[in-house]
Amino acid sequence: MHDESPEAPALHTWEFAADPYPAYAWLREHSPVHRTTLPSGVDAWLVTRYADARQALADSRLSKNPVHHCESAHAKGKVGIPGERKADLVSHLLNIDPPDHTRLRRLVSKAFTPRRVAEFAPRVSELTDRLIDAFAARGSADLIHEFAFPLPIYAICDMLGVPREDQDDFRDWAGMMIRHGGGPRGGVARSVKRMRSYLAELIHRKRADLGDDLISGLIRASDHGEHLTENEAAAMAFILLFAGFETTVNLVGNGLYALLRNGDQRARLQDSLARGETELLATGVEELLRYDGPVELATWRFATEPLTLAGVPIDVGDPVLVVLAAADRDPERFEGPDTLDLSRANNPHLGFGHGIHYCIGAPLARLEGQTALAALLRRLPDLRLAVEPEELRWRGGLIMRGLRTLPVEFGPE
Ligand code: HEM
Repeated sequence: MHDESPEAPALHTWEFAADPYPAYAWLREHSPVHRTTLPSGVDAWLVTRYADARQALADSRLSKNPVHHCESAHAKGKVGIPGERKADLVSHLLNIDPPDHTRLRRLVSKAFTPRRVAEFAPRVSELTDRLIDAFAARGSADLIHEFAFPLPIYAICDMLGVPREDQDDFRDWAGMMIRHGGGPRGGVARSVKRMRSYLAELIHRKRADLGDDLISGLIRASDHGEHLTENEAAAMAFILLFAGFETTVNLVGNGLYALLRNGDQRARLQDSLARGETELLATGVEELLRYDGPVELATWRFATEPLTLAGVPIDVGDPVLVVLAAADRDPERFEGPDTLDLSRANNPHLGFGHGIHYCIGAPLARLEGQTALAALLRRLPDLRLAVEPEELRWRGGLIMRGLRTLPVEFGPE
């Protein structure tokens, strides 16, 4: 990403990827609605203050449907979002507006309920323990590859009803997507295609033999006599996997890293877990979402009519990117925003977004985050970083914020 204003911070360096917060503080103060050119060549607005971010996320004039951008870009003689094909644009929740969004979201909400997630808790604990068992005796591990990465993939596969023997395929496809997220597209496109066709076929099979799993729930869900079509159910299963995977990897990875670097907070949490309490774990995961959340900026939005944000005029078709990570460190909203305080009360962070696209997987993400952190801290109480923080590499890319690896050491179990 390069920038027009000479004093504006660089937003595409390794330093930025490792610690974007000073740059976000500059933007909040000097250019809260900031025009910038993304590496893809697309011009976009970055919104960094909490109040503006919340307002933008709830503004119905900001559409999620990229067609609005493509049409205006074509009208201005520019191309639309590079690499996106129109046919793929309107297929899932994150790319559509009401009334289609309302209909699909209502249907999925009937199947993907907080109760279904709560009932899944023992399974998440079992999965977590199995993953820790595999390295507990070794005294060292890479907690991204061996823990944070497989956990959400197996969890959502189980919940959807993907048979155990096929789940390693998903692990490989997802691995390709996370490793090459911003890089070579060929392998990623192939993995996405395989995943989608596997899910389409699974849905077809399940229709004849419904069970208790989430895919059967999606097929069964009805609202005023309406059902999801097979294609819609497949797109829904795919977006649940896709939206719930790298985000949760980063919640566990960034969360652990923040705890390892803030010894006092980690000790507080360990003491409270030893006493069998869960309150600090619950507020702590919310604080970790605020302090260094998995999603750096919310997915694209496009102006469908001219509007102003914090006094800045936005043109029809302009992309607006809400920087959740910047908003969640806004001193106007959070006291001592750069301090990690696991017991922070009054913490309406934007880590899961806001408005009609608010994360539908938040209950599952919280369950996985809380279970994973509690199990690691309980079982490996002297867990510590095996490298200097400066040696760690962050995956750049602005949308997601997460570590490539997290090497740790501990006294073997
Ligand atoms: C939407 C964050 C986990 C499924 C969102 C949005 C955010 C978000 C910020 C809104 C995006 C926008 O407005 O542009 C997170 C974080 C997670 C997480 C931080 C983990 C810590 C999950 C999980 C699932 C999931 C586990 C499903 C299994 C979805 C879906 C949407 C969504 C389907 C689209 C909802 C809609 O457009 O109505 N998530 N998410 N997410 N998330 Fe999550």
